[in-house]
Amino acid sequence: MDQPKIALITGASSGIGMASARWFAEQGWSLVLWARRIERLKELQGVLAQQVGNRLEIWVDQVDVRLDAQVQRAFASLPPSLQNVDLLLNNAGLSQGLKAVHESNQEDADRVLDTNIKGLVNVSRAVVPGMKTRGQGQVIHVSSTAGKEVYPGGGIYCASKFAVEAIAKTMRHELLPFGIKVGTVSPGMVETEFSLVRFKGDAEKAASTYQGLEPLRPEDVAEAIGFMATRPDHVQIADLLLMPRAQAGSGAVHRVDS
Ligand SMILES: NC(=O)c1ccc[n+]([C@@H]2O[C@H](COP(=O)([O-])OP(=O)(O)OC[C@H]3O[C@@H](n4cnc5c(N)ncnc54)[C@H](OP(=O)(O)O)[C@@H]3O)[C@@H](O)[C@H]2O)c1
Repeated sequence: MDQPKIALITGASSGIGMASARWFAEQGWSLVLWARRIERLKELQGVLAQQVGNRLEIWVDQVDVRLDAQVQRAFASLPPSLQNVDLLLNNAGLSQGLKAVHESNQEDADRVLDTNIKGLVNVSRAVVPGMKTRGQGQVIHVSSTAGKEVYPGGGIYCASKFAVEAIAKTMRHELLPFGIKVGTVSPGMVETEFSLVRFKGDAEKAASTYQGLEPLRPEDVAEAIGFMATRPDHVQIADLLLMPRAQAGSGAVHRVDS
């Protein structure tokens, strides 16, 4: 029997990352799952282990992607059986507030840029050299419709996702000679903890984001990521843009009174 493939997923404690972990486990992939909330990862590890038995390895670790030393240590401490990562899903990310650029809070801006850009680079720095040596692998960065179009109040977040797009395109060129696929998945509105984090725990404000429309579910995005990861070897999906039926672009949504 073939060895299970290995996916390393950042931000697996919630939302799109967690749904992706479930999707890949169901498809028989071994997993390395990183996030800061380790207790959540352990809970997920327990649930997945029950589902898949000991066919697959599910490894969890507490990693803040902003801290390069922590990222490199976590990768170096993987058991040898999990070091040859087939798929890196750079998913960890967040937004903070909805303020105009000139009114933005410096700490919030740093948190977004450090996580969404530098964190993604830190993790790529750890994982991609092995792919390059093996001449095999795939990197999927989670971008957003915010990486294509701006919207008022989204300046810092949009800047971070425009950067993700630039990094992904650059990596695709850099890794071309080594047979490594690089792409982005770019969702519109997805109902996760994203808005709760953006509005710093204000559940009412977070819920209003999705009022009067049916957003994507994290499972919808996980399925799209799974599609990208399971194409025939010669097929590289560079970007997969998906949004709810009620959305046409970053600021363009159609709401119906309930
Ligand atoms: N929801 C949307 O509408 C939407 C749309 C387009 C794109 N996206 C993108 O999708 C990705 C996932 O977001 P989501 O919607 O699933 O939100 P979510 O439910 O809030 O999940 C975000 C994940 O990122 C992790 N994370 C945040 N900061 C981290 C750090 N410093 N180190 C390690 N992990 C960190 C969180 O884990 P811990 O807190 O446990 O560390 C969590 O697992 C993000 O890149 C986001 O920008 C979301």
